[in-house]
Amino acid sequence: MRSYKIGVIKGDGIGPEIIDEAIKVLDAVSVSEGFNLKYEEMLLGGSAIDETGVPLPDETIQGVKKCDAVLFGSIGGPKWDNLERHLRPESGLLGLRKEMGTFANLRPAMVYDELVNASSLKPAVIKGVDIMVVRELTGGIYFGQPREYDADKSYNTMVYTREEVQRIAVVAFDIAMKRDKRICSVDKANVLEVSQFWREIVEEVAKDYPEVELTHMYVDNAAMQLIRDPKQFDVILTGNIFGDILSDAASMLSGSIGLLPSASTGKGVGLFEPIHGSAPDIAGQGIANPLATISSASMMLRYALGEDTTANKIDDAIKKALAEGYRTGDLGNYDAKEMVTCSEMGDIVADYASR
Ligand code: IPM
Ligand code: MG
Repeated sequence: MRSYKIGVIKGDGIGPEIIDEAIKVLDAVSVSEGFNLKYEEMLLGGSAIDETGVPLPDETIQGVKKCDAVLFGSIGGPKWDNLERHLRPESGLLGLRKEMGTFANLRPAMVYDELVNASSLKPAVIKGVDIMVVRELTGGIYFGQPREYDADKSYNTMVYTREEVQRIAVVAFDIAMKRDKRICSVDKANVLEVSQFWREIVEEVAKDYPEVELTHMYVDNAAMQLIRDPKQFDVILTGNIFGDILSDAASMLSGSIGLLPSASTGKGVGLFEPIHGSAPDIAGQGIANPLATISSASMMLRYALGEDTTANKIDDAIKKALAEGYRTGDLGNYDAKEMVTCSEMGDIVADYASR
């Protein structure tokens, strides 16, 4: 029997609730598909701070390296907001991404037909949207040196090396080849040298992919175009901070940020996480939407374990649950036939996926 070791980081806020549902679904499908998943829990973020004093314990850094993939919930919350920056939960996540070398963050933004009414945009604008945001994840202004916080002057540095831009561009072009073969590279080349550099290197990489149509867009325009006419996009390739912002904007096309998954891949073990945060305001109430995390588990099966058939089953089960009108609170106003809790949604998807 095929067997995989999965690192599990539940994290803070709604993290534990949504991860439990993803595991429920994984357990249900792995049995019926004839493979076995072993889970190893690790600490990160606020819960790691509470237990060990640091947001990214050494045990976690060592632990993830021994896994076939890592499934992650969410981190952060008001309890840890006043800590020094390097001790905050977010620093733990950024450190983990860097340690794991997961430089390529894939954030699909798709609109489920069943939820075309859930978006704040008109159904005609969003029906059929299928975008893949490819966000560079371990460079740019998030990590650039020098950086400094001081009472009179503070700064960060947006820096990209040739190698960093090349490798993320290659990921985006490879993905585009499997899709509609169109890439829009998003930057701010009219203002920033680092973006001019980004653009030139993306152009160079494009020469190896003559079938892919490459366009460029400034990030301010891209934010506007995502809302105006999202169907114009196939793959969006962009840097760390622009990708952070645009992927949140793109998530609202789908109607709820509680729906969208992500896969972070790169040098070795991949990290799979919903794009939303820890939602401390609703944590522990059992009302969070687990679908983004269940969908991230599906991406894990597809991208890290090569279990595509099972991934498809989970994706279909999510669609079926939505088509049948099951809704968590975030989607309550949209063609809901039955309101369900986080755990009930997990039961329903697990049931459909394992049939
Ligand atoms: C995300 C989050 C993180 C980021 C935070 C929590 C550090 O917003 O994954 O999009 O900015 O990358
Ligand atoms: Mg973000």
